[in-house]
Amino acid sequence: MTTTAETGPTGLSDTTLAARAAAVLRDNDTGALVTASPKLYPHMWSWDAAFIAIGLAYLDVGRALTELDTLLSAQWSDGMLPHIVFTDADGYFPGPDRWGTDAAPQRPSRVRTSGICQPPVHAIALRRIVSIARRTSRAEAELAESFTARAWSALYRWHGWIARHRVAEPCGLVTIVHGWESGMDNSPRWDAPYARVRPGPDLPPYVRLDTLGVDDPGERPGDDEYDRYLWLIEQLRRVRYEPTRVLAASDFRVGDVFSTALFAIACDDLAGLAEELALPVSAEVAELRSWAQRSRQAVADAADPVTGLAFDRDLRSGEVLRTTTVAAFAPLLCSALPESLEARLLADLVGPGWAGHPGLVAAVPPSVSPDEAGFDPRRYWRGPQWPVVVWLFSFALQRNGHTSLARRWRAEGLRLVSDGAFGEYYEPFTGEPLGSTQQSWTAAVTLDWLCGW
Ligand code: SER
Repeated sequence: MTTTAETGPTGLSDTTLAARAAAVLRDNDTGALVTASPKLYPHMWSWDAAFIAIGLAYLDVGRALTELDTLLSAQWSDGMLPHIVFTDADGYFPGPDRWGTDAAPQRPSRVRTSGICQPPVHAIALRRIVSIARRTSRAEAELAESFTARAWSALYRWHGWIARHRVAEPCGLVTIVHGWESGMDNSPRWDAPYARVRPGPDLPPYVRLDTLGVDDPGERPGDDEYDRYLWLIEQLRRVRYEPTRVLAASDFRVGDVFSTALFAIACDDLAGLAEELALPVSAEVAELRSWAQRSRQAVADAADPVTGLAFDRDLRSGEVLRTTTVAAFAPLLCSALPESLEARLLADLVGPGWAGHPGLVAAVPPSVSPDEAGFDPRRYWRGPQWPVVVWLFSFALQRNGHTSLARRWRAEGLRLVSDGAFGEYYEPFTGEPLGSTQQSWTAAVTLDWLCGW
């Protein structure tokens, strides 16, 4: 374990923090999957699972691979990886009956899932796990490599599903049909497109359960937002989640710059894995490289030429969504910009409007700048700091050669989580953990910061 000079507000040592993070992953482990959190999210979430698998790799590479295997075994026959794989647990809404995926012919037969997807970070995770395994032992390296050879085509089919069904023409951005597909559910990024979603009178009634899983319902999206989330599910279930029909069926259709940047990296990572292992898939690798290039270009095209901030696009109205949130810094994830513009964007992100804001407990970017009108330090994606997002930026910066900043954000990210509560997100000015505690992906990225750098 690499030790940090810094300790967080509670002064937990790195060793104690790592032990607590490992305990969270073990406690949330049902055997074949680690739930996203014990109370609020008692199922597997797609992008959570990828980060969780990275954390698990520091405990047991085989168990990390099982996590990815569980997700892949829920893959739909058309290639989509669903955003939730349901366990038998109650207490989460909307559950599988509300999603109605049993009526979708492409659904997996042995497990129940939701009918939408989440950002494609899985190949990024697998590549990280292979590298962790190689540092661990020869046996674990072989395990990870043979899993990769076995799972590669499933991941390629997942990427192919995105390329085929979800890349918008002509902008090249990855299209989402529900804010949940972005993973940043109620981000102000989606306020304008959600304003155009008008739940019909035939929206079946429902009772929210998520607000019971947190101390204060004000940490969660509002009821009017939930009506829209449920209405979109209704629209998608009526076309049985058929990928050729969902784009027309959904009142929400947006080109997502953050998912597009992640898709670019993930395509390169999947191609890189095939090359490292000399898998006989050269045509597929060429395709992945072209999808990566296309996506990187789409992020560059979505970027403001002066600031470098990249903006989503409402594909229904054609409007560029010029709302600045942490997602607008997506070009930094996939090195989409020329050097001088990247330097300007980076300076903005470390500056006083973002990670360098003087009031922050930990100097890492919040989900929304405190200087933005509507910034809410406690409400989900409208202001709090999310350790997993900080991890993504630190990891990408490290890979892209911004080593000292990456290390600084690692140290500050550890400061953020150093109370050992493993909050889902944090109040930026007090460091209070919000949403769920014992959140598995927070524990997982903590382990990576502590053990992998
Ligand atoms: N994040 C969503 C929730 O809050 C689901 O993807 O339930």
